[in-house]
Amino acid sequence: MSLRATILATGSHVPARVLTNADLEKMVDTSDEWITSRTGIKTRHIAGPGEYTSILAAHAAQKALAAAGLGAADIDVLVVATISAEMTMPSCACLVQKEIGAVNAFAFDVNAACSGFLYALSVAEKQILADPSLKILVIGAETLSSRVDWQDRNTCVLFGDAAGAVILGSSHRGDGLLAEKLFSDGSLYNLLYIDAAQSLNADLRNEDFQGSSIKMAGRDVFKYAVKAMESAVQVVLDKAGVAVSEVSLVVPHQANIRIINKLGQKLGLDPEKIYINVSRYGNTSAATIPLALDEANRAGRLQSGDLVMLCAFGGGFTWGATLIKWQ
Ligand code: UT7
Repeated sequence: MSLRATILATGSHVPARVLTNADLEKMVDTSDEWITSRTGIKTRHIAGPGEYTSILAAHAAQKALAAAGLGAADIDVLVVATISAEMTMPSCACLVQKEIGAVNAFAFDVNAACSGFLYALSVAEKQILADPSLKILVIGAETLSSRVDWQDRNTCVLFGDAAGAVILGSSHRGDGLLAEKLFSDGSLYNLLYIDAAQSLNADLRNEDFQGSSIKMAGRDVFKYAVKAMESAVQVVLDKAGVAVSEVSLVVPHQANIRIINKLGQKLGLDPEKIYINVSRYGNTSAATIPLALDEANRAGRLQSGDLVMLCAFGGGFTWGATLIKWQ
């Protein structure tokens, strides 16, 4: 059998604090009815003091390491997909390396917004194909609560904080990453962006500075997201020579239940085959897919030989799909 990169184990972590739609009703002019009917979101987890992106990522990484029976020193490469690291330099990945003691790894970040986990997985896969002995931690982690304008009802109800991790190794048994296709269109950057980040440096914090929060043309993003993910999934199915009916589980980026349902309808998917947890976590950007994968894995929804389709869409624009045969 040919060499493939395969997911050996998964892990995830969310902060303890839960923000409900009822809580948001007290903060902005919104309602549980509006948020639920337009997005499907009921609750999201919000990081507390000291719960930086790297800390959430480190917890998720430790759970994935435990599930794999590996120690942090066994990791050769550590990749974090994020747009909300607590520092500009060093990378979030280097901070995770320090936190978990992955002393033998080289570490770096990938920025592809909500598609970041698929991009990071792709980069890691190429490392495995070049050297099958490697063990790679691929993490999607965000604290988007630090990038949201909490007075803007258009966006503050949508996002949450979380981290998910997988450990990638090699396989000759036929399992692993079967096909992928990633896309970007930077000409549409101004439909979804954050033009400057918040910082740990208190000197740079300015209460009047409005540039640091997420800006989104929601309706436009919605339409692009459905079309782009549908076509990416089709391209990957064609590449792999697989019919949609053969896919056991689709794990889409979790931004909005209506986007996920439309995608499912367009692809002709059995709703039972779509993993959905957006109601509990909201949109956690690069973390949605590894968080959902870990939940599905721990719930026994991923069996050996299952075909699992991942697909994402986010700022950039970036989008893509990846087909995996579960180990
Ligand atoms: O993660 C990757 C990228 N992100 C996405 O994929 C998100 C894509 N977009 C969406 O999910 C949806 O477009 C939203 C959930 C953001 C918005 O839903 P929508 O059905 O597209 O609503 P809309 O933007 O067309 O707004 C409808 C109305 C507006 O009022 P008017 O102008 O019609 O009077 C908004 O001001 O709803 C209003 N509105 C709200 N009302 C109550 C917007 N946010 C809220 C709110 N509560 N939180």
